[in-house]
Amino acid sequence: MQLKNDLLLRAAKGEVTERTPVWLMRQAGRILPEYRAVRESLSGFKELVETPELAAEVTIQPVDILDVDAAIIFSDILVVPEAMGCTYEMVEKRGPWFPKTVRTEEDLKNLRVADPHEHLHYVLDAIKITKKALNGRVPLIGFAGAPWTILAYMVEGSGSKTFSHARGMLYTNPQLAHQLLRMITDTTIAYLKAQVEAGANLIQVFDSWAGILSPAHYHEFSLPYISEICNAIRNVPVTVFAKGAFFALEDFANLNCETIGLDWNMEISKSRAQVGPNKTLQGNMDPCLLYSSFDTIQHETIKMLKEFGPQRHIANLGHGVYPDTDPEKVKCFVQTVKEYSFTVNS
Ligand code: CP3
Repeated sequence: MQLKNDLLLRAAKGEVTERTPVWLMRQAGRILPEYRAVRESLSGFKELVETPELAAEVTIQPVDILDVDAAIIFSDILVVPEAMGCTYEMVEKRGPWFPKTVRTEEDLKNLRVADPHEHLHYVLDAIKITKKALNGRVPLIGFAGAPWTILAYMVEGSGSKTFSHARGMLYTNPQLAHQLLRMITDTTIAYLKAQVEAGANLIQVFDSWAGILSPAHYHEFSLPYISEICNAIRNVPVTVFAKGAFFALEDFANLNCETIGLDWNMEISKSRAQVGPNKTLQGNMDPCLLYSSFDTIQHETIKMLKEFGPQRHIANLGHGVYPDTDPEKVKCFVQTVKEYSFTVNS
């Protein structure tokens, strides 16, 4: 189907756009009262993720309400460990928790490389329903966690400030880490290919815990697996967002992907110099800007747009929008990007 608004895809591919496209990581979620209403009628987060009609409904909410240039399928990176046999629970106000962790060769034996059509069909169904309902209004982004970030949750068993068990394994049993990363990567490639087949127009890989690794460990335990994923997904643009991995920006220049996501710790001009001219950059406003006044939001957003320049940029935050953000402030960010970038480009 022909897309009515394909700015995101053209910007990702480096084609000239009449303005900068804009969307927000975690745009589908708790900032919207409309999301909370759907969520509160259910047993929990997982029921929402696993019910395709409802996942599709909350995927489209930010397109209707915030007027963003893309939808991102409502799901979670943790559906991949679950499909591999390592189930998670989403504990209210605390985050994910895994009753069984993966710390030994014995634990690994209980895992499988998942078949997305068998174990993740609910996400594929949600993508198909969303695409139909969007009717070409904006592109739909599919996603997965980077293998290192998924390993971090499977080994740690929950969120953590240090991920000391996961990082510890890289020293105490690197072979086991590589075996687990192999299984996660194979699952992820099959899963992302299935998302594209189901209708995803662009794929984003979230390496949320990239920044806790040493550069040497990042090169050994994360980058090669992300590179494999990029090489495998070739018929839609791919975005790699590795939070905190400023030390790997020069390596990202060589990835077989179209877009690199920046967080707000990364300097825009320096990052552009490191990544080079041949990739689109996405980001990178501090989510806390959206706690400030409308005037400050406009001023800082325009400053960011000037630093990125009018082309090869997809405007976004440097990480997911915080749940206590006023949707009106998000709208201000979105509208400022649209109006300012249109004025400078025309
Ligand atoms: O709008 C979107 O971006 C699509 C939906 C989406 C969710 N999670 C929904 C969600 C996406 C893309 C994710 C990715 C995700 N999940 C990441 C990578 C991005 C990042 O933030 O770094 C990570 C690390 C996770 C794991 C995860 N899921 C955690 C740590 C938590 C608890 C903390 C939190 O934000 O609440 C979740 C829960 C989660 N995933 C919620 C939502 C809307 C909140 C739970 C709820 O609504 O009940």
